[in-house]
Amino acid sequence: MHDPDSRLIVALDYSTRAEAEKLVERLGDSGTFYKIGYQLFYGGDGYALGKDLIAAGKKVFFDLKLLDIDNTVAKGVEAFAATGAAMLTIHAYPQAMKAAVAAAEGSDLCLLGVTVLTSMDDDDLEEAGYDRDVQSLVAYRAHQAKEAGMGGVVCSAHEAALARQFVGEKMAVVTPGIRPKGSASNDQKRIVTPADALSQGASHLVIGRPITQAESPVQAAGAIFAEMRMGAA
Ligand code: C5P
Repeated sequence: MHDPDSRLIVALDYSTRAEAEKLVERLGDSGTFYKIGYQLFYGGDGYALGKDLIAAGKKVFFDLKLLDIDNTVAKGVEAFAATGAAMLTIHAYPQAMKAAVAAAEGSDLCLLGVTVLTSMDDDDLEEAGYDRDVQSLVAYRAHQAKEAGMGGVVCSAHEAALARQFVGEKMAVVTPGIRPKGSASNDQKRIVTPADALSQGASHLVIGRPITQAESPVQAAGAIFAEMRMGAA
């Protein structure tokens, strides 16, 4: 694997810009790719921080999981594309994905379809009105993401191999729920190591607390890079 750094996405799950900036500063060159989700975006000026990180040469993944009528999705995607962001999530509904792809045309924005949230199991899907289990819905949505021309999908590392079958070799398969060997699982129920996630077909790993809450984020990231190299060997 040539570039583990660009495949590790550090989740900036903070409520304030100051906390997020502190982590970015501590990580220095060990952090090249950052994910900004609801918490920081809405609560901590994450949009402005994301744009500043891009200006500073970092890659930014806005994890806003868009879903709305086509026109609204398209206008939102245009705004994100103009920032120079690297990635943006859209819920993997065909209409929303098609609107997003058209809106991102000509930009470098990699649109990711959220297949099934990693917090959902088969019972949760049934309760939400779906008559597919998690595996089947991940496969279906991965296929639809490819058909729509998306840049990639987000799924649990447990479904990375399945998603990879449907999206082919070129699309990104981005997986959260990763825990380096020997680290606390926090509230992640179905965890996978960095090496295993990559060998299952993940292209990018989203990792939060094992780095953000480490005594030395640089050391934690370094250990993860080492595990990633093993997985891709
Ligand atoms: O658990 P960790 O701190 O590594 O989480 C990093 C990111 O992974 C979070 O920003 C969240 O969006 C995502 N996540 C997830 N499914 C979970 C827990 C976290 O997709 N069950």
